Amino acid sequence: MDQIVITGNGPLHGEVRVAGAKNAALPIIAAALLTGEPLRVSNVPEIRDIHTAIKLMQLLGAQVEFADGELCIDCGELSSVRAPYELVKTMRASILWLGPLLARFGEADVSLPGGCAIGTRPVNEHISGLRAMGADIDIEAGYIKAKAQRLRGAHYAFDVPSVTATENLLMAAALAEGTTVLENCALEPEVEDLAVLLQQMGAGISGAGTSTITIEGVSSLHGTTHRVPPDRIETGTFLVAAAATRGRIRVVDTNPDFLQHVLGKLAQSGAQLELGADWIELDTQGRRPQAVNVTTAPHPAFPTDMQAQFMALNALAEGSATVVENIFENRFMHVAELQRMGADIELQGHTAIVRGRPRLQGAQVMATDLRASACLIIAALAADGDTTIDRVYHLDRGYANIDTKLAGLGALVRRVKS
Ligand code: EPU
Repeated sequence: MDQIVITGNGPLHGEVRVAGAKNAALPIIAAALLTGEPLRVSNVPEIRDIHTAIKLMQLLGAQVEFADGELCIDCGELSSVRAPYELVKTMRASILWLGPLLARFGEADVSLPGGCAIGTRPVNEHISGLRAMGADIDIEAGYIKAKAQRLRGAHYAFDVPSVTATENLLMAAALAEGTTVLENCALEPEVEDLAVLLQQMGAGISGAGTSTITIEGVSSLHGTTHRVPPDRIETGTFLVAAAATRGRIRVVDTNPDFLQHVLGKLAQSGAQLELGADWIELDTQGRRPQAVNVTTAPHPAFPTDMQAQFMALNALAEGSATVVENIFENRFMHVAELQRMGADIELQGHTAIVRGRPRLQGAQVMATDLRASACLIIAALAADGDTTIDRVYHLDRGYANIDTKLAGLGALVRRVKS
């Protein structure tokens, strides 16, 4: 199992290119199930979750080619509609296979994902939404077994604006009979991007990017080409790493429009920001960051996927701040690891009270989930001495070549086999 060893050596500086967004690419791959024609996707990130998604497609019988960020998926003929536990447990986004499989093949057999390091992560919204569209769904031996001759358009209002449930129903409704109206939809840019893709495939969708989306079902969809948008969370992660190490970096091939709250918080921490159409420059002028309060909420508010990174920033900042997690009930596993590095953090339910320390010390720490790993990387870059991060497979699920990219920004980082 790989470990990453980082020797804290001061400010990050230079330019880094951001990859395509994991959370946009995964629903795009699932959407390939909706058509018998090839779907060609570019700017696909070289990360573990994408390889898992490809493995799942191949297991179902799809033809897949993937090289240099270019992916071609052909679901002309499938031999199975079953997403097995062995793959689903390593990638919860496999739940996205449920809606499209059911809509196109009338049947789907998708393992329940089970628990996760950041919370229980229920899938009740996915199931109720599909039932509202006429699906017959049973839970048997840990699997969601769904059947429907043809899904019917329905009116469904989400109790919570779930990202993947909105995406699942959007895909299912695209091939349903009649009109579907989805209310209280998630507003994350990845949902809107999926709607654009589905429109390119021939779906009738209006209202994407707002909380009410209307889908006119069609009997078949066709292949198309699509480019995965830049990863807003990878962008934010590099910017916070630069802010925490008192550095100056330029992040390119990104989209500043996706990150308004995060950029606002970085400006509040004292960093100077300059934005272009597809780049962001952050300059701390060598100053220690000021502590900033953050409260996570659905898009367009502050994203839960950036909470852990700001926890690391606050642990090193001047002053005290509160970090409130409102999306997932257990997304504070990184706190105990930061404490091992000398951070002063007190947990009170969903709130962390962080009192900044001028320095943290390198230590042996363990990554518990994807964004917790990013938090530990940031702390390690700014800490004194060596930090060894265990279980970096979490990191590899969502960050493409992060060690190489950090080395390009001047970090002393190496990957070792334990
Ligand atoms: N929820 C329910 N019932 C459901 C579905 C969700 O109660 O059926 C609740 C969840 O428990 C949570 C809230 O709704 O409290 C929002 O969760 P959501 O369903 O939106 O999360 P998700 O779709 O499972 C996606 C991202 C996550 C990201 C969240 C929130 C993908 C593949 N994953 O997950 O990304 O944290 O939205 O923005 O898009 C990550 O990249 O590290 C990651 C975890």
